[in-house]
Amino acid sequence: TALVVAVDGPSGSGKSSVSRAAARALGVAFLDTGAMYRALTWAALRAGVDLADADAVARHARTVALVMGTDPAAPTVAAVVDGVETDLTEAVRSPEVTANVSALAAVPAVRSDLVLRQRALIESACLAPAPGREPGVVAEGRDITTVVAPRADVRILLTADESVRLARRAHQDLGAADAAALEATRRGIVERDRVDSRTTSFTAAADGVVTVDSTHLDFDGTVAAVLEVVAQ
Ligand code: CDP
Repeated sequence: TALVVAVDGPSGSGKSSVSRAAARALGVAFLDTGAMYRALTWAALRAGVDLADADAVARHARTVALVMGTDPAAPTVAAVVDGVETDLTEAVRSPEVTANVSALAAVPAVRSDLVLRQRALIESACLAPAPGREPGVVAEGRDITTVVAPRADVRILLTADESVRLARRAHQDLGAADAAALEATRRGIVERDRVDSRTTSFTAAADGVVTVDSTHLDFDGTVAAVLEVVAQ
């Protein structure tokens, strides 16, 4: 039988890298749902869609097919725009996409569209796993434990104190950059968390969701803690 693990958490909680490592250890697929919101944001920016116009954003989003590579060893995201498949694995990490993704993610019609696509991807990872992979998936995002897969076998909220999250994110984005750049990253994350928290309740664990606090854990320790919850 298939194993579905849902992981939610805020920016800098480590949910992407930890979920990826957990999927690898479990031999199942990995689904980064944030990459899907990011890919639609990239496509909207490129098409010149006004991100403040919810109807236009939702209408445009429906025309963009997404191709998710769910191999935890090398996850990818691509979009089919005007019939051409474009790999966006790197592009979705750009500061411009990061600065605009929360606005797109706040559009209810975009969310319901992506939730359906995410459920289909989870189902296909369970029913038709890639060769060599076990049936199942670790899916991570901000509404996986609550909306996308509330009946997942395992549901985890990955948290960390804000100062730790900001430090990790700054380190990830910039390496050892200057103080002004670090402050800009910090402000960007605080603002994104603020907007996101109106859309999804990713900071408080819903009923039946296990909280893993990574504040005092290193990467390997956090992966081990997640795998321990899965094994319970
Ligand atoms: O890695 P980080 O937490 O910085 O961001 P991400 O997981 O790549 O998600 C990017 C953005 O997509 C978030 O800031 C949310 O606005 C949105 N998102 C969402 O609304 N729901 C999800 N399940 C995943 C992402």
